[in-house]
Amino acid sequence: MRKKIVAGNWKMNMTPSQGAILVTDITRQLVKDLDVQIVICPPYTSIDRVARVIRETKWVFCGAQDCHVQLSGAFTGDISAAMLQEMGVRYVILGHSERRKYYHEDDILVAEKIKTAIGEGIRPIYCCGEELQERETNQQFEVVEMQIETALFGLSPEQMSEVVIAYEPVWAIGTGKTATPGQAQEMHEFIRGMIAEKFGDDIASKLSILYGGSCKPENAHELFSQPDIDGGLIGGASLDADAFVKIIQSF
Ligand code: 13P
Repeated sequence: MRKKIVAGNWKMNMTPSQGAILVTDITRQLVKDLDVQIVICPPYTSIDRVARVIRETKWVFCGAQDCHVQLSGAFTGDISAAMLQEMGVRYVILGHSERRKYYHEDDILVAEKIKTAIGEGIRPIYCCGEELQERETNQQFEVVEMQIETALFGLSPEQMSEVVIAYEPVWAIGTGKTATPGQAQEMHEFIRGMIAEKFGDDIASKLSILYGGSCKPENAHELFSQPDIDGGLIGGASLDADAFVKIIQSF
C-alpha cells in the first residue's frame, strides 16, 4: 500500500532555537510504531537543528520548502538540492502557491526543479491547486490538469515513483476555509486517474497524494478517511506541537 504522510510546512516561521524546541516537542509526543511518515519542512536556517533532533527517529524526515533548479553557480541567495541533501533533507516542497505568487514560478521551472531534486535523492512534494476564481467558475479540473501535465508528464516512470503530490486549493491556504472532504476526494481521484493514464496503475496506486489548506485537528480525520487522500501538508497548525500531533493521530 502507499505511504501515509503528514508534512508540516513551517513557511517563514521559527528561528533555529524555536524550531529545535518545536520539533523536540513533536517527536516526544509521538508513539514510535506509527504507520505514518512525518516530514518537517523548516526554513533553511533551521534545517540543521531540526535534522539533529530527528536523526534518531526512522519515521520523521526533514524536508525543505524549495530548492534551486541548478546544483551550484552564481545564484545569489539561493540554495541547491545538493546542499540540502548533505544536510539530511529527504523531501522538498516544490511549486507551492506562495512561490508561484511571490516569485512568479511556473510549472515549466518547477518541472526542472523536480528532476534536479530527484537526481540528488530528494523526493519532491509537488503542489498544485486552483485559485478561488477558478473554483467559482468551475475550472478547477482544467487548471490542475494543466499543472500536472506540465510539471510531471515529462518525468520517466522511475522519476514519477519518487514524487509526492499535494493538492492545495489556493483559496483554502491560510484562510480557515477547508475544501470539503468530498471536494478534496474528487480532485485527488482525478489526479490519481491522470497519473494512472500516463504512468500506469502500479505507479498511480503507490502515489501518495496529500491535501493541504487549513487542515486542522478538527477536520483532519474526515479528510484522511477519504480513499484517495493519503495525508496532509499542514501550514499554520504545524507550528503548534499539540495540533500537529493530533493531526498525525487522526490516522
Ligand atoms: P495552512 O495549513 O496554513 O492553510 O497552509 C497550508 C499550506 O500552504 C501548506 O503548504
